[in-house]
Amino acid sequence: MATFRPTRVELDYPSRSCLLQHDDDKLFGTYPYVWLRDNCRCDKCFHPSSRGRRVLMVDLDPDIIPDVAEIDDQTLNIRWPDGHLSQFPLSWLKEMQFSNMREDPVSTPVRQFWGNEMHHKIPTFSFADILHNDKNLHDWIEALQVHGLALIKDAPHKEGAVLEIGKRISNLKMISFGETFQVLSKFEASNLFCTNAKLGLHTDLPYFAYSPNIQMLHCIKQASKGGENQFCDGYKVAEDIKHIDPEVFRILTTIPVDFREWGTDYKEYHYKHRSPIIQLLPNGRFKAISYNDQVRAPYIQIPVQDVYKVYRAIKIFNTELYKHENKIEIKMVEGDIVSFANQRVLHGRSSFTVTETNERHLECAYIDWDEACCRMRVIREKMLNQKPL
Ligand code: OGA
Ligand code: ZN
Ligand code: ZN
Repeated sequence: MATFRPTRVELDYPSRSCLLQHDDDKLFGTYPYVWLRDNCRCDKCFHPSSRGRRVLMVDLDPDIIPDVAEIDDQTLNIRWPDGHLSQFPLSWLKEMQFSNMREDPVSTPVRQFWGNEMHHKIPTFSFADILHNDKNLHDWIEALQVHGLALIKDAPHKEGAVLEIGKRISNLKMISFGETFQVLSKFEASNLFCTNAKLGLHTDLPYFAYSPNIQMLHCIKQASKGGENQFCDGYKVAEDIKHIDPEVFRILTTIPVDFREWGTDYKEYHYKHRSPIIQLLPNGRFKAISYNDQVRAPYIQIPVQDVYKVYRAIKIFNTELYKHENKIEIKMVEGDIVSFANQRVLHGRSSFTVTETNERHLECAYIDWDEACCRMRVIREKMLNQKPL
């Protein structure tokens, strides 16, 4: 029976690798020479408390070949031509098997696209659980990765709840409106969201090159009339368009549209950015949707002969967003926090009435995937008793 441990090491010159083998010649793993030299764990090459590599590329020779390699009990020992000794615990090499590398589930979530059926099954969490229970915090972020939409119930009916959630993850994303900002209807607002007007389906801040990833809207006071929110899975719509009309999909994924906003609320600001409405990763997966009629710029930096076809493509995209089967509507009650992947799930709001005794009030905040995924990994590693590599 092959033991877990390899017992022999062979220097394989054609592959420039150490082949670690069990007694019965079964291969345990292939470790390229240059990779071994780069990942020497000695104190000179690797700083143990910071876990930072001290070997710099400038000193690394990709053609390096060990002088001697041997296995003793629990360690692979390698003597390099300059006399340096590297010692690799076999248990560590096992985790580093190239053929068996684990994919990080947090970095590669499997998304589920949705339409109107989501109305009955929005993933729902309680504010207290998210605040006090790591598993709930993790599952909420996971729901945002998979579905892009989740509801948090029973938050206090006052400002500060989204800040508390932000602190559970790390920090909220700071923008010129502050860490959080209040969505209230103001007289002579310099921004449409600060009125009682209807807001069409949109993503927030498409005029940022690094648009916020996760958005939270906390309902502190709801309007008695109106003020419902609409949501639509932009990736589902984009996927549909890819099949229905590939030319429209090509236009939406390649021709950039300009977005801008300036104003004087808080600090004076003027943001602008241009990007295709549907942005793809090099592997074809969706990276982001940027779409917001309110702040679409009047200037479009494209050849004038492309303008008509861009408008036509946007119109087709927009028509899909508003189809009954693609969108849902909810009316938040006080204490609800709706959270969504801003660059995937478009959100809108119905107009509402404001009276002297009933002023609608939401608090809005953003947080980025880097922070949320970081928290998920830490929680998973604790729950599964895994050490990061
Ligand atoms: C916004 C927004 C939604 C609402 O402020 O960008 O979408 O319900 N608000 O007021
Ligand atoms: Zn070393
Ligand atoms: Zn918005």
